[in-house]
Amino acid sequence: MRTRTALPLTLAGAAAAGIGYAAVVERNLFRLRRAEAPVLPPGARPIRVLHISDAHLTPGRKLLMSWLRSLDMYDPDLVVNTGDSLAHPDAVRPFLDALGPLLDRPGMFVYGSNDLYSPQPKNPARYLWRSSTPDYKKRVTPDLPWGELGAGMTGAGWVDLNNHRGRIKVGDLDIEIAGVHDPHIKRDRYDEIAGPTDPAADLRIGVTHSPEPRVLDRFTEDGYDLLLAGHTHGGQLCIPYYGALVTNSGIDRHRVKGLHRYGPAWLNVSAGLGASRWGPVRFACRREATLLTLSPREASG
Ligand SMILES: [Fe+2]
Repeated sequence: MRTRTALPLTLAGAAAAGIGYAAVVERNLFRLRRAEAPVLPPGARPIRVLHISDAHLTPGRKLLMSWLRSLDMYDPDLVVNTGDSLAHPDAVRPFLDALGPLLDRPGMFVYGSNDLYSPQPKNPARYLWRSSTPDYKKRVTPDLPWGELGAGMTGAGWVDLNNHRGRIKVGDLDIEIAGVHDPHIKRDRYDEIAGPTDPAADLRIGVTHSPEPRVLDRFTEDGYDLLLAGHTHGGQLCIPYYGALVTNSGIDRHRVKGLHRYGPAWLNVSAGLGASRWGPVRFACRREATLLTLSPREASG
């Protein structure tokens, strides 16, 4: 009898401890993940790309803001923001302030759905069994100041890659760049940026919020070398030694976060800096930014 009551109590205690850890401890643990992608022409000088994503910022998140601001110390040559920066109508100014000196560096960005639509209360565990897409089908008019956010970044010189294509200089490198608006809510218009990349460029980078294969495949068909995405939150609630249960997108579990091959290209998926304010938990999946070192490919032949 004693064993019969002790087991449920033990399980309930472990569950409560796990939820407490996910909501309080891991919620405030950040890490800088480092990785190296050999995508530059042979002999080129390596550059550092800081990839940030999914801040889901509310004005009170002081720890997140100060950690984000501190990333300037790594002296990135280029900053890429793959969206979902906002989670509150008053978060634009705090987000731009948190970027701080990073805005003085070359940068580019795309939006995620959460830059347009404020988060809605929901059961955090819902993330595990269904996509968030249906919410947005019912919501037509964005209620967050995405235009103000974009103006803040473009005003500092960052390139808006929402269904746009362009070219930037980073150090000595001539880089072709392109991106789409969030494919998770079907705002991507790849046809507007489609076409083969320039083989004379030193590097070709494709950017999207959600790592949807229908977009990634077109980037690789057009010859992009490096693809950057966020959105997955790395699975958000993960099982130690197993990994993510879901990716909330079309990408497979194996590539839910980190740097991997995607056909001939390299794909970095950021596990992101935050989570929805209505599901502010992370388990076995630290908040992160990525410092990618882009190094030269080995000379062929
Ligand atoms: Fe997100």
